[in-house]
Amino acid sequence: MSRVALVTGGSRGIGAAISIALKNAGYTVAANYAGNDEAAAKFTAETGIKTYKWSVADYDACAAGIAQVEADLGPVEVLVNNAGITRDAMFHKMTPQQWKEVIDTNLSGVFNMAHPLWSGMRDRKFGRIINISSVNGQKGQAGQANYSAAKSGDLGFTKALAQEGARAGITVNAICPGYIATEMVRAIDEKVLNERIIPQIPVGRLGEPEEIARCVVFLASDEAGFITGSTISANGGQFVV
Ligand code: CAA
Repeated sequence: MSRVALVTGGSRGIGAAISIALKNAGYTVAANYAGNDEAAAKFTAETGIKTYKWSVADYDACAAGIAQVEADLGPVEVLVNNAGITRDAMFHKMTPQQWKEVIDTNLSGVFNMAHPLWSGMRDRKFGRIINISSVNGQKGQAGQANYSAAKSGDLGFTKALAQEGARAGITVNAICPGYIATEMVRAIDEKVLNERIIPQIPVGRLGEPEEIARCVVFLASDEAGFITGSTISANGGQFVV
C-alpha cells in the first residue's frame, strides 16, 4: 500500500508541483484547496489527483476535511503545509485585517492541519510533516510584516514539534523557498520584481516550483528519518543562513 500524502494549497503553484512530484514518487495524494474551484477541477482532470476544498484557517473545517480524506484514501502519513497567502503592504498602511488573514492562514493553518493528524501519526509511529516557510520568514521583508511573522513562526513551530515527534517516528521539517515563479510572485509589481528583487538573487533567476517539490519528496521519504527540526533553504543564494 502506498503512503497517503496531503498537500494544502496543493492544486496551484508550488503546491501543485509538490502534489505531482509525490504522486510520481508513488504516494496516494490528496490536494487541499481553499477557493479556486476551476483550477482545482482542471488540476484533477490533468493529474488524476483528488482535490478537497476547505480553508486551513478554520480548525473545524481542517478536522472535517482530514476525516474525509482518511475515509476516502486511508490514514494521512505525510502532511505538507504549503497553503499560504500574501497581503503585502508597508506597515504604516497595513490593516488589522491584512495582519489577521495572513496569520490565520500561514501560521494558524499549520497548527490546524497538524493537530488533528498528530495522534494518528503517534499511534502508528510514523509521520512526516513538511512546512513550507519562506526566505522572508528567515530574513524579514519590507512590506511583509504579517507574512514574515507568520513564516518565521512556522519555523519555531517546526523546531518545537520536531522534538515532540522524534520518539514517535514523526519528523517535522521546513523548507524555505526563495522567490519562485508562481502567480504569488508574479503578482508583485513588475518594476519591484525586476529592479529590487531579482538583482538580489545570485543565481539570477526565479526558482521553479519543481525545485521545491524535489526537496519535499526527499524529506517525505522513509530514508529521511534522521532529519528532523531542519530547514532546507532553496533560494538561489539570496539569503545564506
Ligand atoms: N526596504 C526599505 N524601504 C523600502 C523597501 C525596502 N526593501 N521597499 C520599499 N521601501 C520604501 C520605498 O522606498 C518607499 O519609500 P518613500 O515613500 O520614502 O519613497 C516606501 O517604502 C513605499 O514603497 P512602495 O512605493 O513600493 O510602496 P507601495 O505601497 O506602492 O508598495 C509593497 C508596497 C506592495 C509592499 C511593494 O513595495 C512590494 O510589493 N514589495 C515587495 C514585497 C515582497 O517582496 N513580497 C513578496 C511576495 S512573494 C512571497 O511572499 C513568496 C515568498 O515567500 C518569497
